[in-house]
Amino acid sequence: MSFSECRELISEGDTVILYINVSQIYALEVTPKVSNKHGQLVDNVFQTKYGSLKVTDLIGKKFGSKVSLSKGWAHVLYPTPELWTITLPHRTQILYTPDISMVLTQLEVGPGSVVCEAGTGSGSLSHALLRAVGPTGKLHTCDFHKERVQVALEEFTRHGFGDRVTVTHRDVCAQGLGIEGEADAVFLDLPKPWEAIPHGVRAIKNAGGRICSFSPCIEQVSRTCELMKSIGLREVTTLECLAREFQVKTISLPVISRTKKKIEVQDPDVAQDEPEVIKKQKIDNDNEEEEASDASDKFENNHEEIPTEKENNQAKIESVQKINDIKFRTGVTQLKMPGHTGFLTFATIPPDLKRPEIINNPCDSAE
Ligand SMILES: C[S@@+](CC[C@H](N)C(=O)[O-])C[C@H]1O[C@@H](n2cnc3c(N)ncnc32)[C@H](O)[C@@H]1O
Repeated sequence: MSFSECRELISEGDTVILYINVSQIYALEVTPKVSNKHGQLVDNVFQTKYGSLKVTDLIGKKFGSKVSLSKGWAHVLYPTPELWTITLPHRTQILYTPDISMVLTQLEVGPGSVVCEAGTGSGSLSHALLRAVGPTGKLHTCDFHKERVQVALEEFTRHGFGDRVTVTHRDVCAQGLGIEGEADAVFLDLPKPWEAIPHGVRAIKNAGGRICSFSPCIEQVSRTCELMKSIGLREVTTLECLAREFQVKTISLPVISRTKKKIEVQDPDVAQDEPEVIKKQKIDNDNEEEEASDASDKFENNHEEIPTEKENNQAKIESVQKINDIKFRTGVTQLKMPGHTGFLTFATIPPDLKRPEIINNPCDSAE
């Protein structure tokens, strides 16, 4: 089953995704019994906010179909690495789909690729790698946490990837990846990637390949980049994947005039995070309004200060100008972009790299 092939109907043993709504999505194993929290085997009945589901009732149903819960309904979806990433049982921090997509693209992983990964963690990235390498490719993944290795192996096997993966229990910094000259790409998600990079280089084919290190902190990135460059890796590049939200706003730009230049925001709720050019203009506009109100106060308190004809004409020009402004709807981005998970540092291992010489130096000098 299931992540590695396409099927229409749900069978016993499948992993299925129960989609209730965007914030209630669950991965279920279609088995008659499950272990409860006391380790006893009980009937596999899944409880939701909309009532219960006897999971074996899904057998024979079509993937994608609507199914009844005791007090509502849900859809039962085919499992994909993307859906697994948002439903998997967390044993560690995991990589999410925006970063995963960048990793697959930048590492140029495709059908037939051989990829090394450390550490396996919760297997979120591993699932995407396993789909990408296809039945002719291979993933060698390792972790120094024994239980995580066992659970990951069980999951990969249950999900139909058993024949294209090796999962090993090892400390990659001390023992390496266990592969030499075989990989097209290496991915590291480790606290001290600089200790594993030389081993990663050793794992790559003589023809060259790509390596990536994921780190949450810029200090780790800095150290990783220095090491990568010092051992002759090329195209060292760090990327951060952030979702940028665009708010649709009506903007009005004045027709260019010799009397005044301004950009004005029509939508009053463009707030803190609007682009500087618009913010500045709003401040300018506010100042203009203050000046105008000062002038009107003066006028009210001192009847001698009557607006001149020139001032009246200027006001008329401005009001005509406002009517002539070009208005358009556009996307305005926020300056602050939340959602930091980590930085992805990529590099190319060139085919002509003198590996034995590099491997020994950086490991010795890393600490
Ligand atoms: C953040 S998790 C990886 C998560 C994974 N990328 C995912 O998407 O699910 C990091 C893993 O690296 C493992 N690890 C840390 N140092 C290691 C080392 N020196 N050798 C092998 N594994 C290591 C940890 O046990 C942990 O499971």
